[in-house]
Amino acid sequence: MYRPRIGIVIGTTREGRFGETPAQWILDVASGQTDLDFEIVDLREYPLSFLGEPKSTGAGDYGHSDPGSRWTMEMARFDGYVFVTAEYNHSISGVLKNAIDHLGSEVHNKPAAFVGYGGVGGVRAVEQLRLVCIELQMAPTRTAVHIGMEPYMGVSREGKELRDFDSLNRKARAMLEELSWWTHTLKAGRKEAAGTEERIEEILGFWFGQEGDPGYGEFRKAWFSAEPDFDREIRDRFLATYVEAREGKLDRWQHEPRGALALVILLDQFPRNVFRNSPGMYETDEKARSVADSALSKSCDKQLPAFQRWFLYMPFLHSENLADQHKATELFEAVEHGSNGSGPGDWHLRTIERFGRFPHRNEILGRESTPEEIEFLEAQNTTKQEA
Ligand SMILES: Cc1cc2nc3c(=O)[nH]c(=O)nc-3n(C[C@H](O)[C@H](O)[C@H](O)COP(=O)(O)O)c2cc1C
Repeated sequence: MYRPRIGIVIGTTREGRFGETPAQWILDVASGQTDLDFEIVDLREYPLSFLGEPKSTGAGDYGHSDPGSRWTMEMARFDGYVFVTAEYNHSISGVLKNAIDHLGSEVHNKPAAFVGYGGVGGVRAVEQLRLVCIELQMAPTRTAVHIGMEPYMGVSREGKELRDFDSLNRKARAMLEELSWWTHTLKAGRKEAAGTEERIEEILGFWFGQEGDPGYGEFRKAWFSAEPDFDREIRDRFLATYVEAREGKLDRWQHEPRGALALVILLDQFPRNVFRNSPGMYETDEKARSVADSALSKSCDKQLPAFQRWFLYMPFLHSENLADQHKATELFEAVEHGSNGSGPGDWHLRTIERFGRFPHRNEILGRESTPEEIEFLEAQNTTKQEA
């Protein structure tokens, strides 16, 4: 059974840090919390530079560089967090604040609990961290664990262990209980709001079939031929979702590989079926490209099998911009190389090189064709509808 995942974030990185000890102790206490899975997330594994990304805040576009992308992807995996924080000059460490500043929608509507340590149990650091978490649309728990001077010194100097302190164990269990309630409640809320995972799986299941099905992972004829039943099914099942995607309501899907792929299929493939031979076919091409760009910058494609990667790259092949065509050529060559499959060939690139646009779209988009384009279209003797 799927259990929500909680990341226990160690908020300091200096050599000889104390931070590991409370993180490990919370992990031990959490083993009694059978409705959640816990994992330690160590900031040492994400040596982030100070935020220098050009994108604007709130766009969820931070962390495009490695290890920034690894960090944001890692945090996206979790349904809630326990931040283990020291108190540095009455606040959290700079390392933790910088790491949090890299985050965006990956942590929205997820709960955060806190373990503080220091002279007064890291109280001031935790209070400040709560405010930071609120700004990132997390839900901070009221109950927190504060490891004060006595247990801190007991463990650091006298060979004691945190589990020797009953009051801390009790507090930790109470905090995890509260975290559990919030985790399940917010997960249900997120699901109701978006039904995200199910909807992503429905789109991918429809387009690629289910793993284990005959022909799964192979080329499907319906993808690139005009089949009215297939078009109708897409319209019936996914038109409402397409509209949401077009309006940007599903943008948060782009932060993880399967979500990004589903979003690109919604924006790039489905309109070619649903609005066949009308301008609507191309209306969301640009948005599809921007989703694909964002997914590539986070290396989402590398986490997908070759036959799925293909569709993440399609928006570049559908672009009337020469630079995008060169990018498509490069991407498809790489995927072919890895899969022994055959890519889409160079028809798109050659057409854009020659005309700067796809002449097949002229009639649909009300563009006048040049004599050279007319000649080209006649010679092709094909409608190349989805180009
Ligand atoms: C730069 C710095 C500032 C600190 N400021 C505080 C403070 O304001 N209040 C406090 O209780 N402890 C303070 N301490 C002590 C830390 O709480 C203690 O060293 C703790 O072990 C640091 O966490 P770490 O070992 O995981 O790095 C400070 C420590 C450092 C390194």
